[in-house]
Amino acid sequence: MMIVPSLSTLASTYLFFLSLISLCLAGSPSPLPGPSLQDSVCLRIAHSISPASEVFYPGESLYEKGIFHWASSSTQQSKCVVEAGTPSDVGIILVILGQTRTPFAVKSGGHATNPGFSSTSDIHISLYRFSEVNYNSTSNTADVGTGLIWDDVYAALESFGVNVLGGRVSGIGVGGFLLGGGYSWMTNQYGLAIDNVVAFELVQPNGKTVIVTNSSDPELFFGLKGGMNNFGIVTKFTLKTHPQSLVWGGSILNLESTLSDVEAATIAFQAAVTDPKAGLIMTYNYVPSIQQILINQLMFYDGPTPPAGIFDTLLAIPATSSDVSTRSMLSLVRASPSNGTDGARAVFQGYPIASLTSSISAVIVNETRFWGTALANKSAVTVSYAMELFLPSIYSHNPDNTAFPPSRNLFFQPFDLEFDVDFHAAARASSAHIREAAIGEGQSELVDAPIYPNYAISGTPLADMYGGNVPALQALKRRIDPQNVMGLAGGWKF
Ligand SMILES: Cc1cc2nc3c(=O)[nH]c(=O)nc-3n(C[C@H](O)[C@H](O)[C@H](O)COP(=O)(O)OP(=O)(O)OC[C@H]3O[C@@H](n4cnc5c(N)ncnc54)[C@H](O)[C@@H]3O)c2cc1C
Ligand SMILES: *[C@@H]1O[C@H](CO)[C@@H](O)[C@H](O)[C@H]1NC(C)=O
Ligand SMILES: *[C@@H]1O[C@H](CO)[C@@H](O)[C@H](O)[C@H]1NC(C)=O
Ligand SMILES: *[C@@H]1O[C@H](CO)[C@@H](O)[C@H](O)[C@H]1NC(C)=O
Ligand SMILES: *[C@@H]1O[C@H](CO)[C@@H](O)[C@H](O)[C@H]1NC(C)=O
Ligand SMILES: *[C@@H]1O[C@H](CO)[C@@H](O)[C@H](O)[C@H]1NC(C)=O
Repeated sequence: MMIVPSLSTLASTYLFFLSLISLCLAGSPSPLPGPSLQDSVCLRIAHSISPASEVFYPGESLYEKGIFHWASSSTQQSKCVVEAGTPSDVGIILVILGQTRTPFAVKSGGHATNPGFSSTSDIHISLYRFSEVNYNSTSNTADVGTGLIWDDVYAALESFGVNVLGGRVSGIGVGGFLLGGGYSWMTNQYGLAIDNVVAFELVQPNGKTVIVTNSSDPELFFGLKGGMNNFGIVTKFTLKTHPQSLVWGGSILNLESTLSDVEAATIAFQAAVTDPKAGLIMTYNYVPSIQQILINQLMFYDGPTPPAGIFDTLLAIPATSSDVSTRSMLSLVRASPSNGTDGARAVFQGYPIASLTSSISAVIVNETRFWGTALANKSAVTVSYAMELFLPSIYSHNPDNTAFPPSRNLFFQPFDLEFDVDFHAAARASSAHIREAAIGEGQSELVDAPIYPNYAISGTPLADMYGGNVPALQALKRRIDPQNVMGLAGGWKF
């Protein structure tokens, strides 16, 4: 996760730099088609859906919103945008796409950093209209529409004093996050976000809507928990809720001069902190314009004040900007500067790490500096390494198997790096280098550790994410989608 400073002179240089990137690299829109050029499949969909759904063409503002992605490199100009409004319309659309064998995309929040995963040059389905949040205080669950971003879900649940497991920064979509796994600020307490899904409202590739639960279809329930868009389009999730008070935390920015103190404090945090309410993401960002590593810390405590001793060492390090306070969950995720890179070109790659030791920390610092300087002159690149620290018990909160992770006995933390999308090979090489270094120093279990599908760079083999679950997921895919309709959409394909 790329982090942008919000204060200080250095930070403004950096922001200026980033806006230059966006100006230079933003794609130019394609010419507007006249009505006669409107695609026949777009027209057929427009004539078949109910008034709850609509089709938009280039030049219309809801077309632009429909194809928008967090990373500009993930946005493509489609022939039209279909804003689906009901599950039955989604079914009608899927049947037309299947019959005409038309490539398409499904987008929720548009945070995919692999080009083509939620974008297309053909038919683009946007899910924004699935935007309801309904809390049921009897069952302690909330129904959450798949077109929302987590900010809106947190806002809707705030007045009930409850929350669900969602994104840790602003703007992430409900859909992709939940179908891939979902590492939340509450993961230390309650597991992955998918461990807290009670039911999926799924429009199957045959156009029929089903409610998938552990008892209705255990295999499909397993497959949807990590299996992304292989089994149809999810329109609603029923999620377990948990009590939510005010939280504590926010974002801190440190200069490279503090790096050794930050490294030591981060390693000490991981070694000592066992309180499941505490969370920390440490990100090293190489900033070419100032030729140094800027450090961003995201801190979290699930309560108004953290107990003494948890964050004190980190807080004592001189910061160039700091926005840490007691606040609502919504305020906390919105404090993160990750939105500042909206529109940048970016690709993620995950690198599982069991334990952040001082030697692995040194390797990560070296990678940040090495690739930051090596790529600096090639384009205005983003080079960023995030260390997402979690407790070893995070996969123990769910007794059932899920598509991801393939094993619940193997602990790994989903560290990730972010490069400019042009540097795929470098991103792969760097992640492989760090993993090999960790295995080399004795973290031998990492040989089998999966890469989180929501962070994995395109081209990653299925087995590297889903391990021994691949055959079961492929068999399930053949049962649910015998015509391979979902194969017409991008993403990880079983
Ligand atoms: C700034 C940033 C911060 C992030 N932070 C976190 C984090 O804290 N924790 C974490 O776990 N991950 C995080 N991620 C990764 C994030 O979970 C994935 O990018 C996720 O896929 C985004 O979901 P989305 O709906 O926004 O993306 P989209 O691009 O809309 O979709 C991603 C994929 O899911 C499919 N999909 C989406 N909705 C549906 C649906 N309803 N039915 C079927 N298929 C669907 C799409 O077709 C696509 O293949 C972060 C990513 C970014 C860019
Ligand atoms: C809330 O949950 C209870 C218990 O599962 C159920 O009986 C009730 O119908 C639900 N209410 C609504 C409005 O769905
Ligand atoms: C982040 O971006 C999303 C999507 O554009 C937007 O809805 C959200 O309000 C933004 N958050 C902040 C804090 O600006
Ligand atoms: C799911 O069903 C299986 C049996 O099919 C059962 O063992 C398991 O406990 C169930 N899980 C949940 C969360 O209900
Ligand atoms: C730094 O990283 C680069 C790229 O992985 C590697 O070639 C180099 O040997 C590393 N340097 C040190 C001192 O580890
Ligand atoms: C980048 O360009 C600057 C000026 O053009 C040059 O001084 C520097 O050596 C270059 N750095 C790399 C890593 O190529």
